[in-house]
Amino acid sequence: MSRLVVVSNRVAVPGENRAGGLAVALQAALEEKGGLWFGWSGRTVREASGALHEQSEGDIRFVTMDLNKRDHDAYYNGFANRTLWPLLHFRLDLVDYSRETREGYRRVNALFADKLAPLLREDDTVWIHDYHLIPLAALLRERGIGCRMGFFLHVPMPSPDLMAAMPDHARLFSTLYSYDLIGFQTQRDVERFQDYVRLFGGGRVFGDGVLEAPGGRRLRAAAFPISIDTAHIASQSVAAINKPAVRDLRRSLEPRLLAIGVDRLDYSKGLPERFHGFERYLERHAGERGSLTYLQIAPVSRGDVTEYRQLRNQLEQIAGHINGNHAVPDWTPLRYVNRNFAHATLTGFYRLARLGLVTPLRDGMNLVAKEFVAAQDPEDPGVLVLSLLAGAAQEMKEALLVNPHDLDGVADAIATAANMPKAQRIERWRAMMDRLEEFDIHAWRRAYMAVLEGEPALWAPAA
Ligand code: G6P
Repeated sequence: MSRLVVVSNRVAVPGENRAGGLAVALQAALEEKGGLWFGWSGRTVREASGALHEQSEGDIRFVTMDLNKRDHDAYYNGFANRTLWPLLHFRLDLVDYSRETREGYRRVNALFADKLAPLLREDDTVWIHDYHLIPLAALLRERGIGCRMGFFLHVPMPSPDLMAAMPDHARLFSTLYSYDLIGFQTQRDVERFQDYVRLFGGGRVFGDGVLEAPGGRRLRAAAFPISIDTAHIASQSVAAINKPAVRDLRRSLEPRLLAIGVDRLDYSKGLPERFHGFERYLERHAGERGSLTYLQIAPVSRGDVTEYRQLRNQLEQIAGHINGNHAVPDWTPLRYVNRNFAHATLTGFYRLARLGLVTPLRDGMNLVAKEFVAAQDPEDPGVLVLSLLAGAAQEMKEALLVNPHDLDGVADAIATAANMPKAQRIERWRAMMDRLEEFDIHAWRRAYMAVLEGEPALWAPAA
């Protein structure tokens, strides 16, 4: 039987925190067919030996490699996270481009290809993940690898004019033509990519998601909205309610309602805007002041990248300002926490909350939105306030949808959510939960694999 080979920058190796939905899904896919998960070890060293680290669990092999500090700086801190990440999140203003980091990105991708190619068999199916590894299929093909290869972009695909603003864009993005299937989060992402192919990529677009690259190679692009392990999160959240951290939080709130946000500390998440929107709520709905506490959990992310450090300073200032202006001796409106929590504990926090605030300026999907819904008490569910600019908004129409730039709109949505009658909360929640139960993370990877392996897709994302 053919094996599945998964490649991603980060690898969920046995023994580490593997609670993330993606790790669970990929692990399940690998268990089904047996296979290999390949990527970076998470370690940077002064002089990488090039040796591979290997461990197994059942029929799955995990193979990782260290990176030189210099390579990692150029590839991860540089091109991936200071060029591609802002570009793909529509933030041309934050794009920092240099030939040096571009070459570092290429060098690391070539290293991945050099190390992976000898491990591959002819009938393997290779599934490569995210913007760190766009050119990997092309580099593997240069090394004579002919097997079926798919790519999934977890982040948004921006408008073609934005993509074309990056120097040398065609050299990078044309490497996508080496895949057999390119998966995107939403149909809008697919359409924007098709526009790029037509306008700048020298290719042709046919019906049914088929593309033709210059030179005639055909491949497919389609939407596969990623999801969560719905049943697992629902049961985990019930158990989590009794965890000490969750009990402590509940005790500290009473009798107030909880609004919660959980995001990596990233400028795409719209945290300054969300804080200001919350402040606007405190001002516009002064009569309700003191009835709701907002807990923002924002673990530090990519701390070596300048823009992320600046954002952290900015948020500390805004949080201080809001609490300075609005706190009273026995109530602090905004609790801002930079540490991370176990995934199970977070599901308990979600279940306690009456409001989930998920207001990114751009997001491929946003799984916090889906997990918040899955973790609710069916008898007394909370309300999701969701950005129109997150991929999740394409499916979760029963959330209170907001434009994260419209602070008054965010403020009013918070008030509406806080006062929403139970019957309406249940109705909205049920509709979203039904969809999440049907299209969970396992349906997602089955749908992707079915198309990649050539069977007709059964996947029908909500309109
Ligand atoms: C996003 C990306 C992932 C990435 C994750 C965490 O979700 O799509 O590829 O792994 O952020 O970021 P990090 O830089 O810590 O891997």
